Amino acid sequence: MARLVTFAVVLIALLVVANLDTFKSEKVNNEPFDLKKQEQAYADHLKTLEELEQKRLALLHPVKKEEEVVEEGPLVVLDTPQLVKGSELYKSCVVCHGKKGEGKKSQKAPHIGGQMEWYLEKQLADMKSGARINKVMDPYLKKLEAQDFKDLAAYISKLPWGEEK
Ligand code: HEC
Repeated sequence: MARLVTFAVVLIALLVVANLDTFKSEKVNNEPFDLKKQEQAYADHLKTLEELEQKRLALLHPVKKEEEVVEEGPLVVLDTPQLVKGSELYKSCVVCHGKKGEGKKSQKAPHIGGQMEWYLEKQLADMKSGARINKVMDPYLKKLEAQDFKDLAAYISKLPWGEEK
């Protein structure tokens, strides 16, 4: 028993001596405590945390870009009585030729918006006289007169040519 105790004591003593060196080489910070510096460090730390929180929230709730409202201006500026009349008459044509005169495949109605005025007027007059046969449009042209064709042509020719549909 005594041997064991001696052995243990010697072993502990050896360990202490062996570690004295590291204990000595350990640097000790003797700087005086600087309250201002610590406060600044703490404030910086809080700022970093706040920034991280903002980033986290931004990722969680991405801000939706406000949808751009594209105001569609009037298709044609109705600055003459003829254009006003033409736009009124054109309402009955929209079913087949479309609001912008873009035409409709399902109706086999061609694109007429932005077409030349004289051409439009001639086609309508020819359809009415029978020089050009267009059975589909016949009922729509019956009520219309030469002046109506002029008004319609003036309005339709001012429609934007746009994309083919
Ligand atoms: C029921 C459908 C329908 C309606 C309504 C209609 N159209 Fe048409 N329109 C057609 C079709 C189909 C054609 C092509 C006919 C052909 O084969 O020549 C056409 C052709 C035309 C053309 C000739 C285009 C070209 O390039 O030669 C003009 C101009 C026209 N329509 C104007 C009008 C106007 C103006 C109105 C309203 C008063 C009108 N249409 C109403 C179906 C319609």
